[in-house]
Amino acid sequence: MNRQGNEPIAIFGAGWVGLVTGACFAELGHEVTIRDIVPERVERLRAGEVPFFEPELEDLVKRNADRLTFTLDAAEAAAAAELVFVCVDTPPTYSGDADLSRVWTVIDELPRLERRTILVMKSTVPVGTGEKVRAALEARGLSHIGYVSNPEFLAEGGAVEDFLHPDRVVIGSFAEADGDCVAALYDRLDTPIVRADVASAEMIKLAANAFLATRISFINEIANVCEVTGADVEKVAEGVGLDHRLGPHFLRAGVGFGGSCFPKDTNALKQLASNSGYHFQLLSAVIEVNELQKRRVINKLQKYLGRLRGKRIALLGLAFKANT
Ligand SMILES: NC(=O)c1ccc[n+]([C@@H]2O[C@H](COP(=O)([O-])OP(=O)(O)OC[C@H]3O[C@@H](n4cnc5c(N)ncnc54)[C@H](O)[C@@H]3O)[C@@H](O)[C@H]2O)c1
Repeated sequence: MNRQGNEPIAIFGAGWVGLVTGACFAELGHEVTIRDIVPERVERLRAGEVPFFEPELEDLVKRNADRLTFTLDAAEAAAAAELVFVCVDTPPTYSGDADLSRVWTVIDELPRLERRTILVMKSTVPVGTGEKVRAALEARGLSHIGYVSNPEFLAEGGAVEDFLHPDRVVIGSFAEADGDCVAALYDRLDTPIVRADVASAEMIKLAANAFLATRISFINEIANVCEVTGADVEKVAEGVGLDHRLGPHFLRAGVGFGGSCFPKDTNALKQLASNSGYHFQLLSAVIEVNELQKRRVINKLQKYLGRLRGKRIALLGLAFKANT
């Protein structure tokens, strides 16, 4: 494997995570091939257009155009790379479990790579996925392909900044040497690297999002008690958040958490626990509080407006969050 720090990289999935990851690795000096299955998306990217708004991303793509290739061809992308990043979507199924069908498609699409290549999982997946992918690779006669879990923590709206200045990078590997190769990619970033086994790396991602969601449901319940006792939740959050053991983040009361990750990842962790025979009581309450919080808004509107049908209601602030 090329250890000069500029290994060619393939990225499967030109969505939020894939595109930010690819553009940032190109900025760090790598040749990056990004593969997606949506022809229009690939066309637009070839023309230097980013198909969604993310601060700094379009500049990064344009500035590194000579190191970025966009393709629809899985074999072309994987054949040129020493590291293949999986950044496809893992949406929830009806039961709340993560739908891994796109991940399995990527495994099926990998060409018969002769040399040692490492598959790096950035998509958010349930604990145990790495073991299953390893078995699937073996079944395909691709046991020489290494596997590393490298979950992504970027937040939409600050994704480029989060990638280049992360709080930490988590790397879970079966083989130490594969983990070393992926860790080396982040050498130029000034950040702690958490090395772990694959299952623990997978769990870190789910636990982090579940914990953040727990803080939101917690402050929302505090807000509800504030409302009936005459306290001001914004003052309460300020006073609580200044405690260095607690910190100020994710203590904004409101209509509850949403977006593309928290509802999906909290449900996936609850389901994962339940499938393993454990009832995750606290997380179940966090999810229930979040659902009730949305209904509270409707109840309040009904209290002041009566029947809502036919009423014109102004919404102040439609974006899911700033910079998105
Ligand atoms: N968006 C976030 O803020 C965020 C943050 C951290 C982790 N994640 C996780 O990262 C993963 C990707 O999330 P995202 O927001 O980038 O999703 P996304 O929906 O924006 O992008 C996924 C992309 O993968 C493409 N794709 C699907 N099948 C493919 C295949 N076989 N080959 C190549 N491309 C394929 C889709 O066309 C799409 O462009 C998910 O597991 C998500 O939970 C997301």
